This record gives sequence, structure tokens and C-alpha cells, in this order.
Amino acid sequence: MEESNILVEREGAVGVITLNRPKALNALSSALMNEFADALETFDADDEIRCVVLTGNDRAFAAGGDIKQMSDSTAADMVKRESPSPWKRVAKTRKPIVAAVGGYALGGGCELALTCDMIVASEEARFGQPEIDLGIIPGAGGTQRLTHAIGKARAMELVLTGRRIGAKEAFEIGMVTKVAPPDSYLEEAKELARTVASKAPLAAQLAKDAVLKAYEGSLEAGLDYERRNFLVLFSTEDKEEGMAAFKEKRDPDFKGR
Ligand code: CAA
Repeated sequence: MEESNILVEREGAVGVITLNRPKALNALSSALMNEFADALETFDADDEIRCVVLTGNDRAFAAGGDIKQMSDSTAADMVKRESPSPWKRVAKTRKPIVAAVGGYALGGGCELALTCDMIVASEEARFGQPEIDLGIIPGAGGTQRLTHAIGKARAMELVLTGRRIGAKEAFEIGMVTKVAPPDSYLEEAKELARTVASKAPLAAQLAKDAVLKAYEGSLEAGLDYERRNFLVLFSTEDKEEGMAAFKEKRDPDFKGR
């Protein structure tokens, strides 16, 4: 039997979802994203669950969209996989979600953490948007949620250079809620989730809803705009070269076409 891409557990009023493709550093294949969105919707509809923790393992929260899957995908293939988009389903969750990030949170992995409502990071966590090195751009909120979180000047540098940052820097620039030692970040994320779960559930949901409203109007338009630019890049030779180079473990040679 094929191993599940995610593990789902209940700890009282806290639902815990663990991304479970350790050999691929939890690369976010479309199958994994759909299973994750299904699990999240199940928790969202369950009155006994009041807060969700999303985690990976100590090496990787998620190293991004699945480059091996995307390298063979045309813009048309990507569009077909979008209906309905698991990313949009995740963003619609009413209950608060805490991301517990142990290691790499890169590309779509960083975007997934930013889609959660709070991030507890291990001191060893590494965040970044390295899509530019593959000849593409972030396509799941990296240009939008990251910019809202840390401001234009810093978001621009991270998106244009692909530089990875550590948990301390991510905390200082306002990307993460809290940094914790490697052996206790998951427990601290669960403790935060238990605190949220102890509050009035409807108040917690509407508090989340209201905080997101702070930028929601412009966010929706921005996410659609980002996705279009992301999909356009799937028809370029540079995308083919960037992803082939990753698979072949060499530097890409971009030509601007
Ligand atoms: N997709 C598919 N497979 C991936 C992956 C990804 N994003 N990231 C890592 N893997 C695989 C590797 O190919 C490797 O598989 P093999 O053993 O079969 O070769 C395995 O996971 C372990 O990875 P490495 O050997 O590369 O491990 P490392 O410790 O040397 O490096 C790393 C770790 C720096 C995270 C490196 O794996 C890396 O750079 N990964 C890609 C990061 C990236 O570019 N993410 C953005 C993806 S695009 C995206 O996310 C678009 C979007 O917006 C949705």
C-alpha cells in the first residue's frame, strides 16, 4: 500500500497534520496538497477541533512545490490542476492554523507557512523564496503574503535573490511569531494552539477573519495576479532549463526566453 502524504492526529481540541514525504523533503506535489486540503476541511467542519497545527519534520517543513512534477508540466497542465485550487481551499479555513517549522520552508513551503495564521519556528528553520533560480516566481502567495508580512524592501530582496534566511532573521523582520529550540518548537506550537483552542471558538474564528480582512481585498487580486505571472513562466525555455538543472544537480544557464 502506498504511504500517505500526510498524517492526521487529534490531540484534544487541537488537530495535528504532519506532511509526510520525508525523502522528497515534503515537496508539495498536487496529491499531497489535495490530501492536506481535504484533512483541513474535515477539521474545519468538526466542532470538537478548535485550532490546527501543521508541521513537517526537523529537516524540512516543505522544500517547495514538487519540482520533479512541475518540470514536466506545461502552463495548461498547471491550469487543469487548479480547479479547485488546494491553495484556495487552505486559505478558506475558518479555524486558526499554527505552522510548526523545523527545517526548510522554501518556495511553496514558505508560502504554505505564510498561509497559516502563526508560525513557530525552530532555531534551525530556513525560509526563502528560491523560485527565481528555477526560472519562475512564487506562485502561492510569496509575492503577496510575504510583502504584507515584511514590507516591500525586504520581500523584493528575498524574491529577487532567492536568499535563504534563518529563523532569527525571519523573526526580526516579522515573518514568524516565535522562535524555539529544535527539540521544543513542535511542543511550543501545540501549546500555542491549545491556548487558542481554550478561547471562545466563534470569537477565535471571527478574530482570524477580521485580522485577515486587514489586507484581504488587495490580497485576493494580488494572488490572482501572481498566479497568472507564475503560469505564464511555465511556457518559457528558462523554466525548462531551471528545473532540468535542479534535477541534474547543476547550475542553470538562463537565456531570457
Ligand atoms: N521538489 C522535488 N523534489 C525535491 C524538492 C522539491 N522542491 N526539494 C528537494 N527535493 C528532493 C531532491 O531532489 C532530493 O531527491 P533525490 O534524493 O531523489 O535526489 C531529495 O529531495 C533531497 O534533497 P537534496 O539532495 O537536494 O538535499 P540537500 O540537503 O542537498 O538540499 C535543499 C536541500 C536546499 C532544500 C534543496 O533540496 C533544494 O534547493 N530544494 C529545492 C528548493 C526550491 O527550489 N523550492 C522551490 C520550488 S518551486 C515552488 O515552490 C513554486 C511554488 O510557488 C508553488
